[in-house]
Amino acid sequence: MLYKQSFVIQDLVKEVFESLSGMAEAKSIHCTLKKGCESPLSVFADKEKIRQVLINLVENSIKYGKQNGSITASMYKTDGRHILIEISDDGIGIGEKNLTRIFERFYRTDTGRSIDVTGSGLGLAICKHIAEAHGQSIHVRSTEGVGTTIGFTLEGRRD
Ligand SMILES: Nc1ncnc2c1ncn2[C@@H]1O[C@H](COP(=O)(O)OP(=O)(O)O)[C@@H](O)[C@H]1O
Ligand SMILES: [Mg+2]
Repeated sequence: MLYKQSFVIQDLVKEVFESLSGMAEAKSIHCTLKKGCESPLSVFADKEKIRQVLINLVENSIKYGKQNGSITASMYKTDGRHILIEISDDGIGIGEKNLTRIFERFYRTDTGRSIDVTGSGLGLAICKHIAEAHGQSIHVRSTEGVGTTIGFTLEGRRD
């Protein structure tokens, strides 16, 4: 069951950055909104479920991110009815052969496993489930050793 409401996506992203600031600071990772993405965009979605998506994505970017790295959130109006939200990092990245599998339940890459032992491999499966429950999609772009961007769309605010 989704409880949809209108809210400003930048505000929720800032709350999530704030709630994970201790974890980010432990690796001296800097979390910011991308320049040019400051003007408020309203989405119509289940705020608490989207908070969960953002927490999972930012946590991954910290866990698989490098010391002194950075995490950037960006948001764009796409076709006038949708908002695209992306979380980018400059961490270890994901090899091409793993890219299609990371949204599967319990799937973890060998490199991911080797640096972090606490993951369940469920985070991205949950993100995908929540995006799909909203009738939207989630996608990944990544280059090993360079970084990862995970993006998902949401319905824009209904007036
Ligand atoms: N930002 C990222 N950078 C590099 N690898 C990532 C990133 N996000 C996810 N992964 C890879 O995808 C796998 C699945 O992610 P997830 O479902 O959140 O599980 P986990 O519990 O391992 O964090 C991770 O184990 C890791 O190998
Ligand atoms: Mg995770």
